[in-house]
Amino acid sequence: MATLACGIDIGGSGVKGARVDLDTGEVIGERVRIETPKPATPDAVADACRQVLEALEVGPDVPVGSAFPAPIVHGVVPFMANLDQSWVGVDVTELMLRHLGRPVTPLNDADAAGLAEVAFGAAKGVEGTVIVTTLGTGIGTAVIVDGALVPNTELGHIEIDGHDAETQTSAGQKTLQNLSWKTWAGRLQKYYSHLERLMWPDLFVVGGGVSKNHAEFLPLLELRTPIVPAQLLNTAGIVGAAYQAARVAA
Ligand code: BGC
Repeated sequence: MATLACGIDIGGSGVKGARVDLDTGEVIGERVRIETPKPATPDAVADACRQVLEALEVGPDVPVGSAFPAPIVHGVVPFMANLDQSWVGVDVTELMLRHLGRPVTPLNDADAAGLAEVAFGAAKGVEGTVIVTTLGTGIGTAVIVDGALVPNTELGHIEIDGHDAETQTSAGQKTLQNLSWKTWAGRLQKYYSHLERLMWPDLFVVGGGVSKNHAEFLPLLELRTPIVPAQLLNTAGIVGAAYQAARVAA
């Protein structure tokens, strides 16, 4: 497997990319970020990815992966919660090849974060079922069983009290609704206890930007499952996308 790859993380506010050292899981050199185009149509976002790669001067032999805030099933987006709806039905592999002139390995952003945590972070060497949740604009999930990813789980959309969970419990909603840590932790409690009753995992890993403030809310949760903060924080999507691209290229 290549020891150098490039990851691009596509989010609602920014498209970020960097080279990654796959021996250590660390970002090498500069991290390029450009604003996510508005509207964030497939062509506009693919063009932003092209600009990121150009700024990074990524050579033709370096595997490139990209993390998306949606499930990617055999290269195609079947459903989109928080980016432009025109993504639904798009073949991302074909789109990226057309705009970037090179193959790009697409995957879900939470799956990318999950792979990164297994390879380099909080889930490394953990046996059994690990659920990595990313708390951001939405809630993303990655389910990893004995180190192997079960792709495209969308457990951020489980129904709780008649609502799509992420519309009440994401970190974005905490900000929008101006919730205190305690009130938000009450919602997280419901969410994670529901999830543990459905999945009986061995470990929860909590990622997303808000996980840097884990001391404010993780100690308030009472769960049978151990729950720990992610270790890669804001590079998880980039590192996981790079890692997956190198695995596919190997
Ligand atoms: C999407 C997931 C994504 C998550 C985090 C959800 O709304 O459905 O695919 O992983 O947000 O971006």
